[in-house]
Amino acid sequence: MKNPASSLNNKNKFLVLGCGFSGNFFAKTIRKLGYSVLTSSRSESKDPNSFVFNSEKDIIPNKKIFDGVTHILSCIPPDKNGNDPVLGSLKNNLKSLSLEWIGYLSTTGVYGNTKGDWVTEIDKPNPFQKRSHKRLNCEKEWLESGLPVQIFRLPGIYGPGRSTFEAIRTKKIRVIFKKNQVFSRIHVADITNAIIYLLQNKNSLKFHKIINIADDKPCSQIEVIQYCYDLLGLKMPKPILFEEVKGELSPMAQSFWMENRKVSNKLLCETLGYKLIYKDYKAGLKNCFLNS
Ligand SMILES: NC(=O)c1ccc[n+]([C@@H]2O[C@H](COP(=O)([O-])OP(=O)(O)OC[C@H]3O[C@@H](n4cnc5c(N)ncnc54)[C@H](OP(=O)(O)O)[C@@H]3O)[C@@H](O)[C@H]2O)c1
Repeated sequence: MKNPASSLNNKNKFLVLGCGFSGNFFAKTIRKLGYSVLTSSRSESKDPNSFVFNSEKDIIPNKKIFDGVTHILSCIPPDKNGNDPVLGSLKNNLKSLSLEWIGYLSTTGVYGNTKGDWVTEIDKPNPFQKRSHKRLNCEKEWLESGLPVQIFRLPGIYGPGRSTFEAIRTKKIRVIFKKNQVFSRIHVADITNAIIYLLQNKNSLKFHKIINIADDKPCSQIEVIQYCYDLLGLKMPKPILFEEVKGELSPMAQSFWMENRKVSNKLLCETLGYKLIYKDYKAGLKNCFLNS
């Protein structure tokens, strides 16, 4: 991913706060591009580029970690009270730095239930779930922080090591059918690449505070599951009707089925010109199939 007009240079230093699935992919990619990156997790690790940050236990990184940091990506979800763990523990630290950019990974859950309609960044958030109210509160905290934040709203994240294949292999899959129900999703590589694209082209693209990162093709869960079984050469179990099983589902699983929306990527892919690596679940799942 080379760009002659890139606004990134080798003096940039990145911190990835919350190096889980998406954070780890981002850190590895940006490191391969030659940038310096430190990453946080809640427990000690052998990685010399990793440090401990755990807001729940009040474990705050040493000030030295922040020396020379220009870019931060926060992948940490809201705390149990609905506040942002990074801002709660590190806001003053961050404000004392010469930061060029902070990316915050949020969720498209803030849009709530649109009964299958498309949602774009100009739609007023209308969270339905308690956790989405917490998320919207964190977005607000970031936007009001005075820090140079850019928010990325993400639908279901998948990629090698975290996809329907794992659910099939561990036999945790339930093939549930709910009429007219669709979900949006995004491959983890597109989260990273879209962010890098926006950073590299920051000087020439209009800055948007909130951007959806989603693929081109929201669709039903059944389509995705069927495609995975096809790639594995196995027969998909007979679907169960949502109405028949909803009482047996965990509250988390039930909440997953209570929202129905399609996430628009027009701002990112049309206005800003990002080209998805994995345009739809078929392309993305083929990559997972070959890499897991
Ligand atoms: N998964 C999805 O489908 C999805 C969809 C939309 C949005 N999101 C949101 O997007 C972000 C990235 O998602 P992901 O699935 O890549 O996340 P993930 O794998 O769950 O990673 C979350 C990271 O946050 C760290 N963390 C959690 N609570 C913390 C605390 N109180 N203090 C310090 N660190 C803390 C975790 O530390 P450890 O490494 O020690 O565990 C982990 O590194 C998250 O905010 C997530 O809620 C996820």
